[in-house]
Amino acid sequence: MSVDGTDMNLNIDAIRKVFPILHQQVYGKPLVYLDNAATTQKPQPVIDALRHYYERNNANVHRGVHALSERATADYEGAREKLRALLNAASTREIVFTRGATEAINLVAASWGRTNIGAGDEILISEMEHHSDIVPWQMLCEQVGAKLIVAPINDAGELMFDTFEEKLSERTKLVGMVHLSNALGTINPVDKIIAKAHAVGAKVLLDGAQALAHLNVDVQALDCDFYVTSAHKMYGPTGIGILYAKEALLEAMPPYQGGGDMIAMVTFEKTQYNALPYKFEAGTPNIAGVIGFGAAVDWLCDTGIDAIAAHEQRLLAYATEKALNVEGLTIIGTAADKATVLSFTIDGVHPHDLGTILDREGVAIRAGHHCAMPVMQHFGVPATARASFAAYNTQAEINALFAALNKAQEMFA
Ligand code: ALA
Repeated sequence: MSVDGTDMNLNIDAIRKVFPILHQQVYGKPLVYLDNAATTQKPQPVIDALRHYYERNNANVHRGVHALSERATADYEGAREKLRALLNAASTREIVFTRGATEAINLVAASWGRTNIGAGDEILISEMEHHSDIVPWQMLCEQVGAKLIVAPINDAGELMFDTFEEKLSERTKLVGMVHLSNALGTINPVDKIIAKAHAVGAKVLLDGAQALAHLNVDVQALDCDFYVTSAHKMYGPTGIGILYAKEALLEAMPPYQGGGDMIAMVTFEKTQYNALPYKFEAGTPNIAGVIGFGAAVDWLCDTGIDAIAAHEQRLLAYATEKALNVEGLTIIGTAADKATVLSFTIDGVHPHDLGTILDREGVAIRAGHHCAMPVMQHFGVPATARASFAAYNTQAEINALFAALNKAQEMFA
């Protein structure tokens, strides 16, 4: 497929060249991959880093005295430093590797939550949360007798900030908020949210699963307490992510899981836990995943998050304009501040049918509830079709999306 050249110093042709998976046909059509909110594709340096680890350095970390283990440990800890720098965390002690954003939230709920939240306390989340920022808090509330409070969204898919503020009180112990909504594309005003939450003494966890591939995040400037993300939505491998938390919070939190590497000393009478962040990394970690994550951060930073974001905004504006001209199409999520996601329904065509027809045209989108059923309930739809954009997407691909949509509408007319 021909591509559109450069945008804001991004050379899209050059970018596409380092993503081998993009250069294939699906059902005899060039692949148009627009399911980036579900997972992004991986650039060659990430694939090479995974391969290099298994071909040259495979060994356990923090344990071996031999060369391979030293190299693996250096690359593993090097990746932690890359994540620290990406988020501008104060120390690598604040970066805990997890299986992904979901496990990071579960870690906070199980460790910090069970220690700091009790009967009568409240956890405040928004109506646009992903299930991973709802269910762990529901489970915690059931365990400790706390209450889950939900701040509503308006019909543009924006947080109703005044109502959010009204729901905050001295009973609120934690605010859980998505930074960039996977179902709507809404970017939340997280600086204002954090300031208001802190004013009543609540801690704030930001779900950054979608955000870090599209936004610059500085956890110190934000003053957020917990920030979680997944590598696979930012050009890295699956099965790896991080929990960022302020060091004082992590110090005071009990371990989430027990096992090897999270201890300093074990006897049958008593175990002394390891220093941060190892206290929260029990067992042999996903070493290859961490090293691949580091390579993804390098690729993202070398390419330029601002330039990627500007390119994606242009794609989103172009796609939105086209969508507005499609009869029977309703955009779900029209926030003033949004990024990368075009969620929509089309009269008379179920999103799943749409997804299947588009697939036969080589166009990959997601159709479903996007693990955000309450968002679907708000808009009174069972599901939406969702196109989501990344650094390697082009206007020509958006044209292919709309040509395929047109075909689907004709089939169902
Ligand atoms: N949460 C992912 C998505 O939005 C899987 O598609």
